[in-house]
Amino acid sequence: MKTFTTIGFTLLLILSGLSAVTAADNIATLRGSAPLNQEGEAPPMPRPESNDQKRKRNYPMQPPVIPHNVQGYQVDMKVNKCLSCHARKRAEESQAPMISVTHYMDRDGNFLADVSPRRYFCFQCHVEQTNAKPLVNNTFKDIDDILAEEGQ
Ligand code: HEC
Ligand code: HEC
Repeated sequence: MKTFTTIGFTLLLILSGLSAVTAADNIATLRGSAPLNQEGEAPPMPRPESNDQKRKRNYPMQPPVIPHNVQGYQVDMKVNKCLSCHARKRAEESQAPMISVTHYMDRDGNFLADVSPRRYFCFQCHVEQTNAKPLVNNTFKDIDDILAEEGQ
């Protein structure tokens, strides 16, 4: 009886191992269907939409996507190309929207004289607008649509 149970368990293990392999073959991953030991074909780069047309923000706290070209814009410890237009001091000349007041706040809510270090690396939060399709479907709903559905 004991030997039978052991054999049964071993078979079960082998079978579940096999099904795991076949299941893994069908799992959709970002690298696509290319086998693990081969390099898949790179998908085409999404095209930036640098038409100066702002997109709607999905919710008020969303970092707005960038509506203009940023290719080659340097942002490092010494230079911040973005601030050359978006800093408070430069907005008049550039007519770019000034970085909002939250960019001058430290994590305790104190207002600093210049951009806060935690908001210095703009690409951490802001990305260029592109024509890229969502990688996975999502069911996000705008709060206005939710309120409309509830008849408010
Ligand atoms: C040459 C000036 C200039 C530079 C440099 C620049 N911007 Fe802009 N930016 C603008 C202007 C002007 C606008 C207003 C919309 C437009 O004309 O494209 C804008 C709009 C934006 C917006 C949209 C704001 C909103 O309210 O929707 C974001 C975000 C932004 N820029 C981020 C950046 C980031 C990040 C960088 C650096 C990688 C950068 N910008 C560099 C001039 C500039
Ligand atoms: C940690 C995330 C983060 C970083 C880093 C960051 N931002 Fe933002 N940004 C936001 C968020 C969130 C908003 C929208 C809400 C707000 O104003 O705080 C915003 C708003 C803006 C706006 C619109 C301002 C307005 O009044 O509508 C501009 C322009 C902008 N950011 C530019 C920049 C630039 C330029 C940098 C780099 C110097 C930068 N941001 C760095 C998160 C960030």
